[in-house]
Amino acid sequence: MNRFADKLVLITGAARGQGAEEARRWVAGGGRVLIADVADEPGESLARELGPQARYIHLDVSQEGHWIEAMDIARREGDLYGLVNNAAIFDPRPMDETSLSSFERHVQVNQLGCFLGMKHAAEVMKSIGRGGSIVNISSSAGMRGTPGAFAYSATKWAVRGMSRAASISLARRNIRVNSVFPGPIDTDMVKFRSPEEEVEKRLSRVPMRRMGTSGEVAAIVIFLLSEDSAYMTGAEITVDGGATL
Ligand SMILES: NC(=O)c1ccc[n+]([C@@H]2O[C@H](COP(=O)([O-])OP(=O)(O)OC[C@H]3O[C@@H](n4cnc5c(N)ncnc54)[C@H](O)[C@@H]3O)[C@@H](O)[C@H]2O)c1
Repeated sequence: MNRFADKLVLITGAARGQGAEEARRWVAGGGRVLIADVADEPGESLARELGPQARYIHLDVSQEGHWIEAMDIARREGDLYGLVNNAAIFDPRPMDETSLSSFERHVQVNQLGCFLGMKHAAEVMKSIGRGGSIVNISSSAGMRGTPGAFAYSATKWAVRGMSRAASISLARRNIRVNSVFPGPIDTDMVKFRSPEEEVEKRLSRVPMRRMGTSGEVAAIVIFLLSEDSAYMTGAEITVDGGATL
């Protein structure tokens, strides 16, 4: 199937979890993907699994120099059509237990990384002149007060605000910016908790009383990347079993 007509998208944090599933689905639909991550071994392995339509690049989203190099690669690979700002870190602590260094690291990866990605990818998309689609991954922690994950929540609210502002700035160039707000999703990011703690801490707030899957988020991200959502920008879509109701 070549539904996505060889279009090139860059997905950050795509070596595993939700990003990896999005890469698989984009390639399955006939698109090309740059799998960007700091986890080189699983990233390379996924690129091999997906074949010639995929390439792994080492990209620490908090480093502007890495973004400049990634955009050079994207230009050489062909026109950049899409970006998914998916990479993030999660070190959940209440405010009084959050160190300065932990807060700063959340800002660098989750917030600055998203800003740098949008800024540099939009420049490339503007120079190509055929529009584009950016999807930013926030969280249910970016929609409600989340006292147990203070720094993470702060940066996910920032992703929400940046997505709205960028969607207005870029609309005239037909570069769409939409954001997705997953609830608890069954990936390695939350595996540090035992299953019992998970039920206790997170699922009690989820009306559907289960975790979501990477595929359930990826389906929405692929829709937002694709032309199926051509008249959507600035949209905020929850994929959370009702957790933010
Ligand atoms: N899993 C959940 O319950 C949940 C809930 C809400 C939102 N989210 C969001 O979904 C997105 C994907 O998370 P996931 O569940 O797949 O987690 P994950 O931990 O499995 O994947 C995150 C990926 O980001 C990469 N990464 C970390 N720091 C990076 C950096 N500086 N530069 C580049 N890559 C980096 C990691 O190596 C990893 O491959 C994240 O934005 C996360 O905040 C997850």
